[in-house]
Amino acid sequence: MTHRILILGGTTEARQLAGKLAVRASVTLSLAGRTESPVAQGVPVRSGGFGGAEGLAAYLKETSTDLLIDATHPYAARISANAAQAARAAGVPILALRRPGWEPIEGDRWTEVDSVTDAVRALGPAPRRVFLALGRQEVAAFEAAPQHHYLIRSVDPVEPRLAVPDADYLLARGPFREADERALLERHSIDVVVSKNSGGAATYGKIAAARALGVEVIMIRRPMLPEVPSAETVEALAAIVNQFGADHFAEPDAERGV
Ligand SMILES: NC(=O)c1ccc[n+]([C@@H]2O[C@H](COP(=O)([O-])OP(=O)(O)OC[C@H]3O[C@@H](n4cnc5c(N)ncnc54)[C@H](OP(=O)(O)O)[C@@H]3O)[C@@H](O)[C@H]2O)c1
Repeated sequence: MTHRILILGGTTEARQLAGKLAVRASVTLSLAGRTESPVAQGVPVRSGGFGGAEGLAAYLKETSTDLLIDATHPYAARISANAAQAARAAGVPILALRRPGWEPIEGDRWTEVDSVTDAVRALGPAPRRVFLALGRQEVAAFEAAPQHHYLIRSVDPVEPRLAVPDADYLLARGPFREADERALLERHSIDVVVSKNSGGAATYGKIAAARALGVEVIMIRRPMLPEVPSAETVEALAAIVNQFGADHFAEPDAERGV
């Protein structure tokens, strides 16, 4: 019997994991549907919210899902909480891919804050040249500090534009190399970077570039996520899933010892 796995995605790792697991299982990847043209995922995709934890629990039952994997971004706290709750309600096992956060090292000038609102405040009253490497949902909060110059990079256009007098917009999708990030910070004379602590290599370039240039980073701390069995890498999680499959979905031939 092929077992059915639902992966909650929206990250590079989710796509990689889906590709690995699809060899042995029937995998569906779920996206929130926010990105206008998401990259090809290579497995069947469903898109859009489920309608809270109850909706997700109902979906798990309707589709006879055997295993739920939360491979969403570390700042997607609501869907992670919903996933843990829905898995419990539907009696479906859950695993999570939890990419470790970055740690400051020698030379880093980090100011850590708890929220986007606190990041806006941490910029201070004097005008600065700010690089916002945040999602387009979060940048609106910076309208509260219109005295700064903003360089805003996003995957999809920021619409409507920010109600501030001085902002440049850049459309780009990672991964971003340190050398390119450094050139970008220099070209725009950036003196502070606002970032999430996303972890992983794809977006670390700006952090390393800021360190090299002595530029401050206002780092928004990670939200609390539910405690569920987890792994830090695609490989480690795939190994757990394969073990899970071997334990729960033995092939009929294997069961007979043929
Ligand atoms: N937050 C970030 O910084 C960030 C960065 C890169 C990628 N992403 C990805 O973008 C998506 C949305 O992030 P977010 O921060 O807006 O999430 P969120 O605040 O935790 O979730 C908001 C709502 O969006 C729906 N949703 C989120 N992820 C979904 C998924 N994979 N499949 C189906 N529905 C989903 C759910 O709606 P219902 O309650 O109706 O089910 C959820 O309650 C996620 O897939 C995440 O992995 C987020």
